[in-house]
Amino acid sequence: MATQQPATRPGNPRFSSGPCAKPPTFELSKLADAPLGRSHRASVGKAKLKDAIEGTREILGIPADYRIGIVPASDTGAVEMALWSLLGERKVEMLAWESFGAGWVTDVVKQLKIDAEVKTADYGQIVDLASVDCTNDVVFTWNGTTAGVRVPNADWIADDRAGLTICDATSAAFAMDLPWDKLDVTTFSWQKVLGGEAAHGVIVLSPRAVERLESYTPAWPLPKIFRMTKGGKLIEGIFTGATINTPSMLAVEDYLFALDWARSVGGLKGLIARADANAQAVFDFCDANGWIANLAEDDATRSNTSVCLKFTDDRIQDGAAFAKAVAKRLEAENIALDIGAYRDAPAGLRIWCGGTVETADIQAMLPWLAWSFEAEIAAQG
Ligand SMILES: Cc1ncc(COP(=O)(O)O)c(C=O)c1O
Repeated sequence: MATQQPATRPGNPRFSSGPCAKPPTFELSKLADAPLGRSHRASVGKAKLKDAIEGTREILGIPADYRIGIVPASDTGAVEMALWSLLGERKVEMLAWESFGAGWVTDVVKQLKIDAEVKTADYGQIVDLASVDCTNDVVFTWNGTTAGVRVPNADWIADDRAGLTICDATSAAFAMDLPWDKLDVTTFSWQKVLGGEAAHGVIVLSPRAVERLESYTPAWPLPKIFRMTKGGKLIEGIFTGATINTPSMLAVEDYLFALDWARSVGGLKGLIARADANAQAVFDFCDANGWIANLAEDDATRSNTSVCLKFTDDRIQDGAAFAKAVAKRLEAENIALDIGAYRDAPAGLRIWCGGTVETADIQAMLPWLAWSFEAEIAAQG
């Protein structure tokens, strides 16, 4: 017999790890000021794009001498343009401990065929960061979204490094402190922590990354949507809102709304506190229940956004089927949508805890998770 259903339901069952929940105050009508049907190069469009860039700088505390560009193809586009434009000048270390990091390894090793030292760790673990040599270029993911494992800090990145650090920070930006002095290229997409729309990515370049772009030309051809230089000089317009190709002004308006909401909760500090509180509620739940645990083995690497969980109960007969059934039951009750583990990750659950999620909703959802677990144990017979 399954236990009784809890009395309280989450107000919003959206706990997907991307696209993530919209800010709690979101309504479509709030995008009415989008300059739809106008050229993005008209002054109104350019002003919106510039606001999006400068709002990003303000909330993330990005230094004034770093360039911020809005680019095509979401975070993937931003990472790819960095890899294809910058790598090949020196040896590169590729760090990967989950699916997205592994994807960047494939690109660099199999597509670009660059001399790379590949360091990997299994889901739940992280690579030996102390072994990283920053005279090389280094490519890594700040928060491994599919493992729920993040770098604990940036102490392993040398201040006087000769190489560049290229960081995929898509599930970290707006939820974790990113030390800009340690990051030469940082990328993220709007569809993640701020609950924006997909389509566009953001690339943040340090002065040293710009120097590399202006002094090094890769041996391979670069498609137009990756090109950040012309005649050996940075195309400055990209970083003031003159995008490479046509952006969605509706997505831009939505991002501006999300930035405003971020300001209303106290900016970056407020966003981090919200994600921390959400993740802590899940950590506490795991501590209180012997049948579920965080996939991240070291507490210092536990994500506060994409919290990944594994079932640890001996009674479970088929781990993958069990986890799927628990998630399906919660979805059917409209309690938690899209919380199954990523397709390449170990069987389990992944609960998005970024700042657009309300802590009260996490707290209301967790007793239902216990209910669904018990129901599935009973259903096994
Ligand atoms: C770490 C990481 N990198 C890259 C991506 C791809 O992002 P996008 O679909 O916005 O290009 C994701 C999406 O979940 C991600 O979590």
